[in-house]
Order: sequence, then C-alpha cells, then structure tokens
Amino acid sequence: MSVLVTGGAGYIGSHLVRYLADCGISVVVADNLVLGHRECVDSRAKFYEADICNKEAVAEIMRMESVDSVVHFAAYSQVAESMVKPEKYFANNVGGTLCLLESMIAAGVKNIVFSSSAAVYGDSGDEVLSEELPLNPTNAYGETKLMMEKMLKWFGAPHGIKYVALRYFNAAGAHHSGEIGELHDPETHLIPIVIQAALGERKEIRIFGTDYPTPDGTCVRDYVHVEDLAVAHRLALDHLRRGGESVSVNIGGGSGYSVRTIIDTVRKITGREVQVVESERRSGDPAVLVADSRKAEEIFGFKVRRDIEDMIRDAWNFHNRHSGRNK
Ligand code: UFG
Repeated sequence: MSVLVTGGAGYIGSHLVRYLADCGISVVVADNLVLGHRECVDSRAKFYEADICNKEAVAEIMRMESVDSVVHFAAYSQVAESMVKPEKYFANNVGGTLCLLESMIAAGVKNIVFSSSAAVYGDSGDEVLSEELPLNPTNAYGETKLMMEKMLKWFGAPHGIKYVALRYFNAAGAHHSGEIGELHDPETHLIPIVIQAALGERKEIRIFGTDYPTPDGTCVRDYVHVEDLAVAHRLALDHLRRGGESVSVNIGGGSGYSVRTIIDTVRKITGREVQVVESERRSGDPAVLVADSRKAEEIFGFKVRRDIEDMIRDAWNFHNRHSGRNK
C-alpha cells in the first residue's frame, strides 16, 4: 500500500514526502511542477509529473501504485493573489479537488488528508481559534479551502471517503538538514522575506499595517515548523488507516507572534540588520490568527516540538545555503 502526495514537490509536500520515506512508508508524488521543484522530491519516492485535473491519469497512478490514501497539497496558496484573481483559485483549488475525488472514486481509494488552512476562520475577533468557531473567510483563498473541506464531507456517505482536514496556521522553517525549504517565486511569506532582507537579497521588509488592534499594531500569527506539520500529516494518515472518523482540526503551536517580533527574532538569530518600511494594510489579512490545537492532540496525539527560534534558524540555514537560487 502506498500514499499518493499531490503537490509533493512543493514546500510542505516535499517535507512530508521525505518524512514518510524516513518512516519506511511507500510514497508516490503527483505534481504538475507549475510551482513545485522536482529536485525537492526525495529520491525514495516515485514521481509522476501529473496534474490532478487529469482524472484518468491520476486514477491510473492510484491503481498502478496500490494507493490506499491520498495527502492533498496541490493548490494555489497566496492570499493577496486570490483577492485579485479569484477565478484562478476557484478553478484550480476547488475544481482540482473535485477531479481528485473523482479519481479516488474511480480507483477505490477511501482516505484523504487535506491541506486546509486557518484562513477558513476569517477575522473572528477571538484571540485563540477553536474548530467550533464560525467559518467566515476574509479572502478568496480561504473560501476555496472551506469549499474543499465541505466537498470532502459530502463524499463520505455515498462513496465511503474519509478525510482529515488539517487547518494549519502559518507554516515556517525548513528541513533541519538545510536541503529543502521554502522556495516560492515570487516569495510573499513573511519569514523568508525577512531572511532575504537580512541576506541583502532585498532592500527592506515592508510591514503591511501597523494600526491593527494588537499589542504592537502589527498582525499576529501562529507559526508552525514544517517538520512538525509533516508529523501531523503522518498522524492523520494513521488515524484514517486505522478506521478513524472524518474530522477537521487545527494545527498550530498555540502562540502568536507579531510581524515586528518576527523581524526582531530574525535580527537576533542572524546577527544581521533588516531595514523596515511601514506601509498600508494588505487586503484580506485578519489581525490575529492563533490556534487552539487541543482537538488534534486528543484525536491523534499531535503536539508541536519546535519553537519560533527553531523555525527561523532552520529557515536561515536553508536560505543561506540556497542564496541567489531564485534569481
Ligand atoms: N507580512 C508583512 N510583510 C510582508 C509579508 C507579510 O507585513 O512582506 C505580514 C502579513 O501582512 C501578515 C503576516 O506578515 O500579517 C504573515 O503573512 P504571510 O504572507 O507570511 O502569511 P499569511 O498569514 O498571510 O498566510 C499564511 C499562508 C496561507 C494561510 C495562512 C494561515 O500563506 O496559505 O498563513 O494563517 F492560509
């Protein structure tokens, strides 16, 4: 039996693939390489350059490789872009997930771990988010993730598909070896951008909004190490493989860090200066997103092991090693 990882050449996917291979689990990757990097896929995994919208090809991969479970990452994930090109997000994220589910039905695959997001909550006004809160995304990206979660639910009764939706908060860090990490082009995420500024690859970091109702006026996020995320996916897979029920759970560390705190921590860890420019709010950004992850701990024993300094140190190590690569 093997696990099919869609988007396994992407940032979080490539870390999961490596971790599953380390655990001795048979892994197959399907990635169209539009955003993924072929060289980030662990050599122990079987790789197919395939788009999840190609239903027949993906169902054939599932049959040929004796796939019993899918981990689904393949999606666009830039909040700002989703606000100006919602059509791109609904077509690829929602449409792509529908195709994948149809392939699963055709191939008789029943388990799916889905890469959801804290963006499904929107700006709830609550400091710490639990799964029981209302779901009101403030951006199109979050809306696509919510629609994908809802879709999974409706495939349970008629087709026997079971899912775990992992609503992760802000993925950060890199593999401790420094070999794989976050390589988006263009980069939009805070920690790699601050690190690029520390490396002199960009002139400055712009803080998007300093008038939020938070202690220092900048947005607060709950960062979770990408290697902790990999463990969360493995635990979710085990839950489904032992017949566990479908569930949506938060995956975060439970601590919030403001944009200014992240910048200061990068300065401290790297010993480099980072130029800061204060600018307007970015459309669609909630002020505070912090996870209550107790449900994931209760259901399948998830607990974060790495803290914000580990994330920044590992990200720094990776970016230092790969400096200039995206130029
Ligand atoms: N930020 C800046 N300057 C930058 C980049 C980001 O001030 O140059 C700020 C953002 O405004 C935000 C915070 O840093 O307040 C974090 O921004 P990121 O872009 O790193 O992450 P987001 O919180 O916007 O989104 C990320 C993922 C989403 C996911 C979400 C869940 O990109 O896929 O976390 O919290 F849904």
